Order: sequence, then structure tokens, then C-alpha cells
Amino acid sequence: MQDLNRLTAEFGYWISEAYWGRGFATEAACAATAYAFAQFDFERLQASVLEWNEPSRRVLEKAGFTLEGRLRKNCVKEGRVADSWIYGLLRHEVMARSPAQLEKAGPASSSLGSHSPPAQTRAVEPASRKLRSDR
Ligand SMILES: CC(C)(COP(=O)(O)OP(=O)(O)OC[C@H]1O[C@@H](n2cnc3c(N)ncnc32)[C@H](O)[C@@H]1OP(=O)(O)O)[C@@H](O)C(=O)NCCC(=O)NCCS
Repeated sequence: MQDLNRLTAEFGYWISEAYWGRGFATEAACAATAYAFAQFDFERLQASVLEWNEPSRRVLEKAGFTLEGRLRKNCVKEGRVADSWIYGLLRHEVMARSPAQLEKAGPASSSLGSHSPPAQTRAVEPASRKLRSDR
């Protein structure tokens, strides 16, 4: 039996508080998304953000993710019930990044145009595809 979501990976990040607000998460998100599509055969990266996490939503939007929906009251954090905002980024959207954006994303993105994932990445176990899931 095959995993129906095998071409989707969950995307997440965490920056030490001492370094917030310096653009590191945005820069890392651009580079990591380019790397993920260059190195693996994912068609989609997906991220879930608590409704009050404006900095994280900004990171995703600046990395090119699209807001696709809200899961109403599906999370509880520190006693507060919250909506999750679901964002998605597709392979072709990253490949359509401008040269300037690809340059900013770093060397991993240079192989995007000639994507040919290694054979061993085609049957990745679900657990190893989960890049990070903190919210
Ligand atoms: C969310 C997080 C990764 C952002 O990291 P960061 O390196 O500070 O992000 P950036 O510097 O790239 O800034 C991204 C946006 O957030 C805004 N921002 C950063 N810190 C902020 C703060 N304390 N309050 C309000 N906005 C803030 C920036 O102004 C920027 O928005 P802009 O482009 O509209 O100016 C970081 O706060 C974090 O690790 N938080 C805890 C873990 C977490 O929430 N992870 C995400 C789970 S979905």
C-alpha cells in the first residue's frame, strides 16, 4: 500500500529568540524550500501556523507560500484554542522564482531547473520526510 501523501512534506522552523527580527527565518525558508525541491521529488511543501503567529505567517508569505485554508479551533496551546492556517508551496512555484530570488536562496537552488532526484529519494519513509513540525 502506498502513502497517498508521499509527495508532500511538512515544513517548519524555529529561530532562537535572541536572533528574531533579523530576517534569518525568511532567508532560511527561501533556501530550504529551494533545497527541498532540488534534492527530493516532493511536489508540495505544507506548513501549519497558529492564527496569532504573525511573524511565521510573514515568513511563509515572503517565501512564496499560499494561504490555502484555516482549520477552525483545531489546536490548543497553553490553554488557548486556536485556528491553524494552512499554507502550501508547489514545485513549479519555486521553479518560477526570479534569478534574484534563486540567488538569494543559495547554491541549492541552482539545480532546480534540471531536477532529477536520486533514485533513493523516490521511496522515502514518511517519518523522514517531515522536515520540522513545530508550531
Ligand atoms: C516565527 C520565527 C521563525 C520568525 O523568525 P525571524 O527570524 O524573527 O523572522 P524574520 O526576521 O525573517 O521576520 C519575519 C517577519 O516577522 C516579523 N517579526 C519578527 N519578529 C517579530 C515580533 N517579535 N513581533 C512581530 N513581528 C515580528 C518581521 O518583521 C517580518 O515581517 P515583515 O516582513 O512584515 O517585516 C521566530 O519568531 C520563531 O522561531 N518563533 C518560534 C517558533 C515558531 O513560531 N516557529 C514557526 C512555527 S509555524
